[in-house]
Amino acid sequence: MRTSRRAFLDTAARLGAGVATASVLPLGAVDRALAAKPREPANSGAAAGVTGDASLGSHAAAHRLLYGCAVNMNALAADAAYAALIREQCRIVVAENAMKWGALRPTPDGFNFEQADALLAFAEANRMKIRGHNLVWHRDNPRWFDAQATAANARGLLVTHIETVVGRYAGRIHSWDVVNEAIDVADGRPDGLRNSPWLRLVGEEYIELAFKTARDADPQALLTYNDYGTEQETRAGEQKRAAAIELLRRMVARRVPVDAVGVQSHIAAWATQAGGIPVAAMPYGAGLMRFIASARELGLQVFITEMDVNDRALPADVPGRDAAVATAYRQYLELVLGDPAVRLVLTWGITDRYTWLNREEGRADGLPERPLPFDAADRAAPAFFAMRDSFDRRAALSSHG
Ligand code: XIL
Repeated sequence: MRTSRRAFLDTAARLGAGVATASVLPLGAVDRALAAKPREPANSGAAAGVTGDASLGSHAAAHRLLYGCAVNMNALAADAAYAALIREQCRIVVAENAMKWGALRPTPDGFNFEQADALLAFAEANRMKIRGHNLVWHRDNPRWFDAQATAANARGLLVTHIETVVGRYAGRIHSWDVVNEAIDVADGRPDGLRNSPWLRLVGEEYIELAFKTARDADPQALLTYNDYGTEQETRAGEQKRAAAIELLRRMVARRVPVDAVGVQSHIAAWATQAGGIPVAAMPYGAGLMRFIASARELGLQVFITEMDVNDRALPADVPGRDAAVATAYRQYLELVLGDPAVRLVLTWGITDRYTWLNREEGRADGLPERPLPFDAADRAAPAFFAMRDSFDRRAALSSHG
């Protein structure tokens, strides 16, 4: 994924954030600019019948599912309506960034737990479960990492990090994304492993080491392998699924403590036809379901960890985009919820106001995307109702009882 400076400047300009001349963005600047924006008072969800028993969290729970979202900690601190929305809708939360190395590790020896602690305090005060994300990733490592992590010290850095972070929150975390995005078939290795700094510095045993260290530090947390690109009904999707299942099979055979696989589910409301024309489509199907079934047969749970639906290539028309996004949520959830191994659905954010997609590639016309169950003014979008209906249909969808 690339962070687009244009998308940021567009967002900043729209928000009147006054930072459009910055050429290098300090970490968190976009989040702060977004959080600082004066807004219309949020729509009261109660009026629209989407809170309490009518919330996503309640409907999911009635069907043996947990619903929650990724939390932007700068917004949580600055925006009371955002905090209220999460409290009303979610039974589980995950830090969008606050538990990554980039946030937790200002120096090779130091830890900064301020934002991570704040997330746990918020979640526990509101009786929500907490996911930890993530312990090992090739991205978003601190600046010092490239210069200072070496083949001689990387193993120690990894073990100390996991012991310290997982140990600090032991007994309070529903599940940890222990290793994130370790597969990239395009890197050309026969086992499909990504040529990540961890692979180069520690060797392929970094995965096993991370899971074993995490289990020792918190025997209660479910340990998850999390990745993207296992969703699509394409050749690349099929290759990624094959590599991921092989990795999980090897881990299970070697008694590496893994309990779940995360299917990120950053999906699109469109597909590209021959000739480059975007059309509404359902490019998800049998391959994904075989993948989920294979994980279940290995004894693993399956978590939908980061769902959102991008409308990047669709025409600007808002009702049209909202309908396509809602349809994508409905079709995707009604597909995956058909397997009883799927226990958890998290969206990557909850209101369009803070979606990371506007900080990534973004729309060519500069309009903000509409990928989440609540729109930028916290009104329940068609996607909200599509999600809730899909949760309600779970019993009818399940082919395994
Ligand atoms: C993203 C965050 O949303 C952004 O704010 C950050 O700049 C980059 O990371 N897969 C993951 C998440 O596992 O951690 C990513 O989160 C989105 C893709």
